[in-house]
Amino acid sequence: MIRMNEHYSKLQSSYLFADIARRVAAFQREYPDRDIIRLGIGDVTMPLPTVCIEAMHKAVDEMAHQATFRGYGPEQGYAFLREAIAREDFTARGAAIAPDEIFISDGAKCDTGNIQELFAQDSVVAIPDPVYPVYLDTNVMAGRTGGFTNGRYQGVVYLDCTAANGFVPSLPSAPVDMIYLCFPNNPTGAVITREALQTWVDYARDNKALILYDAAYVSFIRDDSLPQSIYELDGAKEVAIEFRSFSKTAGFTGTRCAYTVVPKTCRVFDQQGQEHEVHALWNRRHSTKFNGVSYPVQRAAQAIYTDQGKKEIRSLSDYYLNNAALIREKMTALGFACAGGEHSPYIWVSGDRGSWELFDLLLHEAGVVCTPGAGFGRCGEGYIRLSAFNSYEQVATAMERMDKVWG
Ligand SMILES: Cc1ncc(COP(=O)(O)O)c(C=O)c1O
Repeated sequence: MIRMNEHYSKLQSSYLFADIARRVAAFQREYPDRDIIRLGIGDVTMPLPTVCIEAMHKAVDEMAHQATFRGYGPEQGYAFLREAIAREDFTARGAAIAPDEIFISDGAKCDTGNIQELFAQDSVVAIPDPVYPVYLDTNVMAGRTGGFTNGRYQGVVYLDCTAANGFVPSLPSAPVDMIYLCFPNNPTGAVITREALQTWVDYARDNKALILYDAAYVSFIRDDSLPQSIYELDGAKEVAIEFRSFSKTAGFTGTRCAYTVVPKTCRVFDQQGQEHEVHALWNRRHSTKFNGVSYPVQRAAQAIYTDQGKKEIRSLSDYYLNNAALIREKMTALGFACAGGEHSPYIWVSGDRGSWELFDLLLHEAGVVCTPGAGFGRCGEGYIRLSAFNSYEQVATAMERMDKVWG
């Protein structure tokens, strides 16, 4: 008899965005003539940079000739891309990361979801609340939590992110092993200072813990005093893995390319307390279960690191940040307390009722789709997340409609 993985039964409803899509579809069936503006799902709307398209076209042409055709590539990613990343994203910022510490993949979602496989079943997991749901759900699926009671999975150490702590969690009071952190944050848009991040690195070193640092939104940081990589901090290379993605940086959500940094000095321990390289474990996993990102896509990603590429991706994030500023300004003027939207495409809005009530109100009254904060965790209740990933015109229209509802 084939038996199911019963940990799946603990999962709460379906994936958040599927719930939203269902409600929006029902609304559209009921009101087929109503125009909807989507400030919900965190998908980009602007096309790929020209440099990426050109590089991809060229690579596709190479695939058409026997002399330049490429079959399976290196599982870890082509050296041309890993070298560009190491040089531009790390060494240039004073973080010494070598190309062979970088693993190219088809998404930070997969990597942040898969990484937990490397760690013991009884690892104590610390997860922010609210949170990008992938970190939590993948640990539930793996059986690393108990059941769901009172809005939380048993056995997880939740790190509350509230207005009181500026949406940056405090250190846990009891020891933990795996710590998920994400800055600039999804969903709150919060950023972390160098000093605050250093306290987490020091904590991980003191407790032999590991930080899983998701920097998928790093390209939105505009304050140079903020850390872009956790490896800019002292001692982080022994206790942190960093996830990056070209999705939001360069519009690759549909093209798929990301990378994970696992420094060779990063350690994990066996039952006897013996040290092992996390790099060796991830390398084993990656090369066993993954066969590489396509050559044209890696060439497109490499093009981001040219002078022209850097300009183009900067103007992409500038565009969304301009939208974010408008949303933040309007929502604040309407009397809502807002976080994020400054070094982030997300604005975390404190509402005057429950998250799903706000979601339904916005959808029905303004035809605007947001993301209910409660979908990201118990601390998200009463909040909604507005996303700047849309055209400026659509964002401006959405804000005019908000004015009509609350103004
Ligand atoms: C915090 C965070 N990490 C990772 C991802 C996924 O990135 P990718 O498109 O590379 O899978 C997202 C996407 O929304 C995200 O918000």
